[in-house]
Amino acid sequence: MKTSKLFLTLGIAGLLSVSLITSAEEKTGKDIFVNNKCNMCHSINSLSIESKMPNKYPDLSEVGKLDLKTADIKKYLMKEGDLNGKKHAIKFKGDAAELDTLVNWLQTLK
Ligand code: HEC
Repeated sequence: MKTSKLFLTLGIAGLLSVSLITSAEEKTGKDIFVNNKCNMCHSINSLSIESKMPNKYPDLSEVGKLDLKTADIKKYLMKEGDLNGKKHAIKFKGDAAELDTLVNWLQTLK
């Protein structure tokens, strides 16, 4: 009786930790990029992400080379700041954590 309770408890603990691990599994910057339809306009040729409107908007394969400050890109994507004197086309709809992941990932594209 005691042992079966112990195993039951262990089983539940096991299930809990598995679900914790899967829910903690973060979306990648690429997931967030595609989920937010950034590829409506932007391609990332280096990763075979195609734009729905090819050649109309900048390809972001080397956006990390532009040496933009992470904070500036975030403001730009939230339409709180300009780049090259212009506001971005759309406002990012995700949350702050997603914006973090997205922009950190963009910065790695070189
Ligand atoms: C409706 C079209 C459209 C969508 C959707 C869009 N963008 Fe843009 N994006 C633009 C335009 C236009 C520019 C400015 C191009 C310019 O000034 O030469 C731009 C510029 C940028 C830049 C600056 C780089 C550069 O070379 O100018 C980044 C970074 C960027 N977009 C990221 C994103 C991300 C991330 C998303 C998704 C959350 C997104 N964009 C969605 C149209 C779009």
